[in-house]
Amino acid sequence: MFRVEVKLKDHSYPVLIGDGVRNALPELLPDSASKAAIVTRPNIPWQAEPGCDSQVFHIPDGEQAKSLAIIEELCRGFSQWGLTRADAVVAVGGGVATDVAGFAAAVYHRGVAVVHVATSLLAQVDAAIGGKTGVNLPEGKNLVGAFWQPQAVLCDTETLTTLPESEFKCGYGEIAKYHFLGAGNLASLPLVEQIARCVELKAIIVSADEREQGQRALLNYGHTLGHALESARQYSFTHGQAVALGLIYAAEVAHLLGRIDEKRVSEHRDVVSSFGLETRLNEQFSQISNQELLSFFKRDKKATKSLTMVLDGAAGPEVVSGLSPDVLLAAMERIR
Ligand SMILES: NC(=O)c1ccc[n+]([C@@H]2O[C@H](COP(=O)([O-])OP(=O)(O)OC[C@H]3O[C@@H](n4cnc5c(N)ncnc54)[C@H](O)[C@@H]3O)[C@@H](O)[C@H]2O)c1
Repeated sequence: MFRVEVKLKDHSYPVLIGDGVRNALPELLPDSASKAAIVTRPNIPWQAEPGCDSQVFHIPDGEQAKSLAIIEELCRGFSQWGLTRADAVVAVGGGVATDVAGFAAAVYHRGVAVVHVATSLLAQVDAAIGGKTGVNLPEGKNLVGAFWQPQAVLCDTETLTTLPESEFKCGYGEIAKYHFLGAGNLASLPLVEQIARCVELKAIIVSADEREQGQRALLNYGHTLGHALESARQYSFTHGQAVALGLIYAAEVAHLLGRIDEKRVSEHRDVVSSFGLETRLNEQFSQISNQELLSFFKRDKKATKSLTMVLDGAAGPEVVSGLSPDVLLAAMERIR
């Protein structure tokens, strides 16, 4: 088993990674909790025993669950069941469950404790760690949310035995991102170590910049185009595959700006394809124009003053603002 600490000023917490770590849940709930509201999906064949009175609250599948209507439904259910501020919420599932349960926990009674039992590869390497929670609006992805750090995160690798192959690929999209953020070549490591290395890197970044005022924005590498593709396809396209394409797109933009050479762009393609992910926008996106994708970039949370992306360069990825639409459009042609 691996244990990584996310060190924060006043609410540090552990991330446990390994087979069966979900069984540590009772020790990681607050002492005050006499009830635990379990937020999960019916298709997740894993349960977490909190060791106290519990009730299961199901959310719908996919990004549809990331809505303000579902947050209201959950909070009303918590209230009707009698969940108090001393109790806890437990998410059991992928990134959708941890984002939604985390946000419901952040706003219910102005904040109750939450523990994430992450059961998808994507949630284990990324979504469950770092305290970003939230839901989507029709105008774009993750536009409403809160920073709400969990009490603990349990990345139970045994649960991955039932994860569909397509969802594994989704997690690999984020693992490919960590390659370029400094984790290096992860593909050759056993899966549990790949996860632990990603969690270590994310914990370092989150510890240094909990509220994304600087370095944490680097975790959005590949997400500008990634989120635009997801939004343009109304979330019928997986997050990890969208991020993987976003990594290659960001490399093309960086190359057009003279920040990286062609060899480094090829490295992006090679890493993404080594995880079995698509490297070009296929026919699914033929109806979506470059201008439409650009309009999503303008609503991106990073674009506070001008078009902004995380771009690779001589010193590694960094946030770059003031990007010209012409360059962004030209780079889109290079990945079609
Ligand atoms: N908060 C953050 O920092 C952060 C970071 C990255 C991604 N995210 C969010 O995470 C979401 C994507 O997460 P995801 O890829 O885990 O998707 P998901 O939560 O929709 O899970 C994918 C599918 O796999 C199922 N599943 C999960 N675990 C399973 C298991 N062990 N066995 C069988 N089926 C299982 C789920 O029920 C779902 O049907 C996106 O909404 C994205 O925005 C958040």
